[in-house]
Amino acid sequence: MHHPTLARFYDTFLWPGERLGMAAQRDRLVGGLVGRVLEVAVGTGLNLPHYPATVSLDAVEIDPHMLRKARRRVPQAICEVRLHEADVHRLPFRDGTFDHVVVSLALCTIPDPVEALGEMARVIRPGGDLRLLEHVRSASPGRSRWQGRIAPVWSRVAGGCRIDQDTESVLAAAGYTIVDIWRSNGGGMIQGVARPPA
Ligand SMILES: C[S@@+](CC[C@H](N)C(=O)[O-])C[C@H]1O[C@@H](n2cnc3c(N)ncnc32)[C@H](O)[C@@H]1O
Repeated sequence: MHHPTLARFYDTFLWPGERLGMAAQRDRLVGGLVGRVLEVAVGTGLNLPHYPATVSLDAVEIDPHMLRKARRRVPQAICEVRLHEADVHRLPFRDGTFDHVVVSLALCTIPDPVEALGEMARVIRPGGDLRLLEHVRSASPGRSRWQGRIAPVWSRVAGGCRIDQDTESVLAAAGYTIVDIWRSNGGGMIQGVARPPA
C-alpha cells in the first residue's frame, strides 16, 4: 500500500483535531503503559511523543511513505522505539511477545480487521491487552446516515478508510472482550481496552 499524497498531508489534515482534543486522547491511550508494546499501523508516528519512558516500543507500518515520516518523529519519543515496515496481517514477532498492542485510527483502514486482530492476539502475552482509539460509525442515526453517504468518496481520499465501520462488532467478531470503553458524544469515537480471546 503506497499513499504518498496521504502521507504528505496527513499531519496537516489532522492538526486541527489534534489541537482540539486528539493529542489529549493519545496521551490517555498510551500514557500509563509499561513493558513491551507493539503499535500497529503507526502511520506518521503521531502517538510516538506520548509514550512514557517505561515502554519499549516496536511499531509496524505497511506504507513506506508513512513510515518515513514516522522515522523523523522518533527523536520526539522518550522511550526506546524500533520501527518496522510490515503488514499487520503477518506480524514479524513471536507468539506472546508483547504486554500491550496499541492501535489508533487504523482498524477502519486495515483491509481485514478481524484477521489482523487475530494476528495481534497471537503476539499479546497471556494477561496482556489491546489499547484502541478509533473513529467509528456514529450512534446518532442522522450522523451515521451521513457517514454512509460520504463513505465511498472518503475511502478513496483517505487510503481505504471505512468511516462507517462498527468497530465494536469487529472486535466481537475477532473474539475480543471489551473491558473498558469511552464513547464520545454522538458515538463517533471510541477509546478502550480489550482482552484478546484466550
Ligand atoms: C489513518 S492512518 C492512522 C495512523 C496512526 N495510527 C494515527 O493514529 O495517526 C492508518 C494507517 O494504517 C496503515 N495500514 C493500513 N493497512 C495496514 C496493514 N495491513 N499493515 C500495517 N499498516 C497498515 C496505513 O498505511 C496508515 O498509515
